[in-house]
Amino acid sequence: MGTINQANGAERSTDRVLRILRIDASARHAASVSRGLADRLVDRLRTQHPGAELVVRDLSIGLPFVNETMIEGFYTPAADRSDEQRMALALSDELVAELAAADRVVIATPIYNFSVPAALKAWIDLVCRAGLTFKYTENGPLGLLADRKTYLIAASGGVPIGGPMDFLSGYLRQVLGFIGIRDVELIAADRLGAGGDARVSAAHDRIDGLFTDIASPADEAAPVAA
Ligand SMILES: Cc1cc2nc3c(=O)[nH]c(=O)nc-3n(C[C@H](O)[C@H](O)[C@H](O)COP(=O)(O)O)c2cc1C
Repeated sequence: MGTINQANGAERSTDRVLRILRIDASARHAASVSRGLADRLVDRLRTQHPGAELVVRDLSIGLPFVNETMIEGFYTPAADRSDEQRMALALSDELVAELAAADRVVIATPIYNFSVPAALKAWIDLVCRAGLTFKYTENGPLGLLADRKTYLIAASGGVPIGGPMDFLSGYLRQVLGFIGIRDVELIAADRLGAGGDARVSAAHDRIDGLFTDIASPADEAAPVAA
């Protein structure tokens, strides 16, 4: 049994099965490169941690945007919230709880118009919660979530990930760090518009390289770009 110290001083017990939270942001499904890579990564995690629990949050079904009732609820102490505010915050509370409970997070996302898909931005707006996932201190903002290994899978058609036109990976690192998550491993499958198959294969190989302690998946063929 072990414990993880959280930023708020509490301790989180690790005496239970590992929890994986997978977040998919691509509007595509079977043809999605980011989802294919997330399949691979989650498979490796589950091989490494037999019995791990998996929670999948598929953002392609859409999420509500932050509205006025939610914002009023954000800034009202929980005990004083109206029924309407409580109902408006129910999904946000659920998303925060499943993120807080996760030992490993896998975020699989394309670049849409130089940044995150709108559904992923909506998720961000629902999990960045003053008093729950961050707070302001005399020394500036403090993330309240415990750090945990987070895999960021990013696919793009033409924009090089990490280059000046990539407003996704740096932004996501900033947002995750803001709420306390700094251990972010970026797996890029970028510039898939030209010569994409080789880059997709390389991204699959990179995932396998992160799990060299488990049996070699050498006999599995890496899926190629659609
Ligand atoms: C609406 C839309 C906007 C996109 N915008 C960009 C972009 O700004 N830059 C880029 O490099 N690729 C862009 N792409 C290409 C996707 O990032 C690329 O096809 C990626 O593989 C999609 O991820 P997926 O395979 O997981 O669906 C866009 C694709 C779509 C559908």
